[in-house]
Amino acid sequence: MLCQIMYLSRSKHPKGHESDALILASAQARNEEMGLTGFLFRTEHSFLQILEGEEDKLDIVMNLIRGDSRHEITSEWPKQPAAERSFGSWAMGSGPIPRAEIEAMQDPKAGDDIVWSAMLGKLRELAQTAA
Ligand SMILES: Cc1cc2nc3c(=O)[nH]c(=O)nc-3n(C[C@H](O)[C@H](O)[C@H](O)COP(=O)(O)O)c2cc1C
Repeated sequence: MLCQIMYLSRSKHPKGHESDALILASAQARNEEMGLTGFLFRTEHSFLQILEGEEDKLDIVMNLIRGDSRHEITSEWPKQPAAERSFGSWAMGSGPIPRAEIEAMQDPKAGDDIVWSAMLGKLRELAQTAA
């Protein structure tokens, strides 16, 4: 089943640190292998990532990401089933997100499809302007 997952994390290093490029390179390589797509948004001190793909592959990669000491996940939205991909053009795209957009996001809640699709729409807009 196609699913999407999203989390917010505190980065160990500030935006632009050399680890950013390494994270992105290994993400793109593995995601391509696993058929995952998504986008990694960055503020000065945080990551907001959305990842999508088949549930079993998504779970494997999310476990790697959870255990990565280059960041610490501070909130994670419940995994959502998806009818289609929203970020299908990126094995892992990257770009900035204004702090205010993150602050405006609602708390993670299960099954709130309206809030979820509004967030996805907004993030897709940001991804398209960043890419
Ligand atoms: C913010 C962040 C986002 C990441 N996103 C991905 C991802 O989308 N896919 C992935 O395979 N690894 C991602 N990683 C890296 C994994 O946590 C892990 O380090 C990596 O998969 C190990 O790959 P390697 O064996 O090629 O070094 C991310 C790491 C961080 C810190």
